[in-house]
Amino acid sequence: MSEPSSRRPEAFKAPVGTRDVLPPESGRWQALVAAFAQHVGRAGYGLVQSPMFEEIGVFSRVGEGTDVVRKEMYDFLDKGDRHLALRPEGTASVVRAFVQHRPATPWKVWYAAPSFRYERPQAGRYRQHHQLGVEALGSADPDLDVEVIALLWDFYASLGLRQVELVLNSMGTTQDRRRYVDDLRSWLVGRIGELDPADAEKVEAHPMRVLDSKRPTTIAAIADAPAITDRLSDDAVAHFDRVKDGLTAVGVPFRLEPRLVRGLDYYTHTTFEFVSGALDAAQSTIGGGGRYDGLVESLGGPPTAGIGFGSGIERVLLTCDAEGVFAAGPAPIDVFVVDAAGGRHARDLTLELRRAGLAADRAFDGRSMKSQMKSADRSGAVLVAIVGDDEAAAGTVTVRHMDGDRSQTSVGRDDLVAHVRAAAGR
Ligand code: HAM
Repeated sequence: MSEPSSRRPEAFKAPVGTRDVLPPESGRWQALVAAFAQHVGRAGYGLVQSPMFEEIGVFSRVGEGTDVVRKEMYDFLDKGDRHLALRPEGTASVVRAFVQHRPATPWKVWYAAPSFRYERPQAGRYRQHHQLGVEALGSADPDLDVEVIALLWDFYASLGLRQVELVLNSMGTTQDRRRYVDDLRSWLVGRIGELDPADAEKVEAHPMRVLDSKRPTTIAAIADAPAITDRLSDDAVAHFDRVKDGLTAVGVPFRLEPRLVRGLDYYTHTTFEFVSGALDAAQSTIGGGGRYDGLVESLGGPPTAGIGFGSGIERVLLTCDAEGVFAAGPAPIDVFVVDAAGGRHARDLTLELRRAGLAADRAFDGRSMKSQMKSADRSGAVLVAIVGDDEAAAGTVTVRHMDGDRSQTSVGRDDLVAHVRAAAGR
């Protein structure tokens, strides 16, 4: 047997591209999700929970041409040799669930869910990120496009965000899109020598990805590339006109961007992104989405229209920081119990207060009165309930009001719950 090592065991860190979310930041995270749930709940969206992993086909079917699916997916064989992948985005899983369960339409759902992409990590770009999203299936009505886009616009506004721009485009019908891809490919083939070699590689199989390029050589070469908006069929133009008119009518401003192709392959008709002017350009897109009228069919369901969005929680919170809104507050508690008579009173009183529905906390380890008072201060509690030897003997508690004049009253132990409830306004 080897000697036990005197060295400390290795201290692990969260994997590259992931983060721990600790209090108080986690409280703000919870508040954001709760605000979103309430906001979309008022518009008739119900929570959907789907697995964090799926058969790989669910995702490969939605974006064979995309980096998200080709390069960034966390896929693996499980112990039963099934080829699975961690969800890189929310839409495919929701559509798979729709096809499996065939709920009545329109089916309007929301989610707050982690997504996994093997990307190069940087501020605002993670390998595990979290999306707030909605999907609405079963209606091709352009008013639904307006509803979905306005829902996200109003959500950002409700957080206090002001520097958000909505960028809008239409990809047309599936046929329009297919025709455009052919036109674009021919156009790009004619200029292949002018493109950055990394983009030139994409022309044959995925010409639209070239429009996404951030490489200066390519950007210059494609300045006059054909735009999808010049190739739309009459139906697609009529749909897009209704969406634009609707957004204007409900007071949601937008900028048209014919080059907006989005990073996933399933989009038809309306596509959109919300860009924050308060973040660095590399991760300034805080939300995006669009219609995907062929996706349900491609996952084995009946022809069904669909539209939705996803918005990165991390990026939304970064934007809130940059704009100085939606600040993190300490989780408020009603009363902090300070026990200078041995600790048993704190044990019993905190439990009694919590059982009565109040928020109560205490210190441990027999700390001094002074140290307990410091913890009470830090806790942000409205009241401090103090039990010293005198109170313990008399069956009373001294209650100090931490706001305003810090006045104190003595209350009978049996009256503490009622007193705290009244003072904390509960
Ligand atoms: P997406 O544009 O790929 O769309 O992602 C949606 C949002 O997730 C982005 O706008 C961004 O805020 C955030 N996000 C994406 N990747 C990362 C990352 N690596 N780190 C941090 N945040 C990230 C979708 O995923 C579609 N499913 C949206 C959708 C729903 N379309 C229709 N319905």
